[in-house]
Amino acid sequence: MNHTPVEGFSKMSKEGKIEWLVNEYLDGSDKAIQILKQYWNEDPALQQLHDEFSENTLSNFYMPFGFAPNFLIDGELHCIPMAIEESSVVAAASKAAKFWISRGGFKTEVLSKVKLGHVHFMFRGDKEKLERFFIETVLAKLFKDTEAITKNMQARGGGILNLKLVDKTAEIEDYFQIHAEFDTVDSMGANFINSCLEQFAQTLKREIYDSENFTSEEKDSLQIVMCILSNYTPDCIVRAEVSCPVEDLAEGDVTSEEFVEKFSRAVRIAEVEPYRATTHNKGIMNGIDAVVIATGNDFRAVEACAHTYASRNGKYSSLTHVEVKDGVFRFWLDLPISLGTVGGLTSLHPLVKLALQVLGNPNAEKLMGFVAVAGLAQNFAALRSLVTTGIQQGHMKMHLLNILNQLEATEEEKNYFVNYFKDKTVSHHAVISEFLKLRGVKSVEELKKN
Ligand code: MEV
Repeated sequence: MNHTPVEGFSKMSKEGKIEWLVNEYLDGSDKAIQILKQYWNEDPALQQLHDEFSENTLSNFYMPFGFAPNFLIDGELHCIPMAIEESSVVAAASKAAKFWISRGGFKTEVLSKVKLGHVHFMFRGDKEKLERFFIETVLAKLFKDTEAITKNMQARGGGILNLKLVDKTAEIEDYFQIHAEFDTVDSMGANFINSCLEQFAQTLKREIYDSENFTSEEKDSLQIVMCILSNYTPDCIVRAEVSCPVEDLAEGDVTSEEFVEKFSRAVRIAEVEPYRATTHNKGIMNGIDAVVIATGNDFRAVEACAHTYASRNGKYSSLTHVEVKDGVFRFWLDLPISLGTVGGLTSLHPLVKLALQVLGNPNAEKLMGFVAVAGLAQNFAALRSLVTTGIQQGHMKMHLLNILNQLEATEEEKNYFVNYFKDKTVSHHAVISEFLKLRGVKSVEELKKN
């Protein structure tokens, strides 16, 4: 079907946008309108709050919001909020939490907390002169000119930590950076960092233009390309770890030595083999993203940062590591991550506020720890299944309900099949064929007609 471009969509009323969408893409279906509206919040003020998070909002998109209890973290018990649609993730986290609660729990440590941003600019001329001028004249002015922006952040204990000129001309002709390091305390700090950077660019431009040190060619060559924070924060990093004597790790029929050997091998494979590392880290991100979303943080930034870090040595590798020394098994995750517990969605979204409350209203450092623990727990649970029973056993049990929901099974039918598949292998084919049998029909098409 051919569609026509729409003019002024963002300026239409919400009803107008729905009407346009449904007529243009959904055959004018009343059912489609009803589905969009059925997810509106009945409180108009709350709905407006959600509408205003983003543009052209027509409905709300639900995500399951679950909780994984029994996490012993740095000696305190926590219940971790997780927003995630994938079956088994919350169950796996809860299982890992239960496993480690009697083995000392999880320990966390923030190793450093530096956020970064850059003014990317071009300059053709005497590099050494630029370097000298930057240190002797520009540097102090960069701090001075941003005082109005940094005042509040400094009062909270943060601010600009360090600024330096970086010569990138070996990679791109005439390319330089102001590399800026920040402490943004409990905020993610994107607006703060970007505002500082834009001021740095203006100051740099002004100082070079006003200076008699530079020729007119040099002044004309100066071009600010862009000012933007970096989502890669290798020095904003948290470690989460678990450890216990090897003998505490026996697993069903598998001896503790066998378990540790297979588990360690699985981690080692993810360290050296990018195909496996990608899936291994995806499992870690299952835990991380779920907590990041539940606590109103930017999971795209977190993902981008984690994967860059996983490739920092030139080859994509595991984010977790294992060590067995003097009879002690130690498993840890080093996660670079920039999070906020103030600003952004954290004080606006009622469920985010609730999630943070369940976590005891943590500061950013504590939240970094919780998120890393969720990632480590997830990876432990996945590897534990993979090297013992295999992953499908647990997965398919959870997936059973998804299949039954797709088939629009009644509650009674769901209970029947959960019981039926207790001692049988769940497969998509097996569930559908048993379901058709129970309903007394021959095909899914026939089922849909009824
Ligand atoms: C599935 O979402 C995640 C796993 O594939 C992770 C892994 O293989 O380690 C189970």
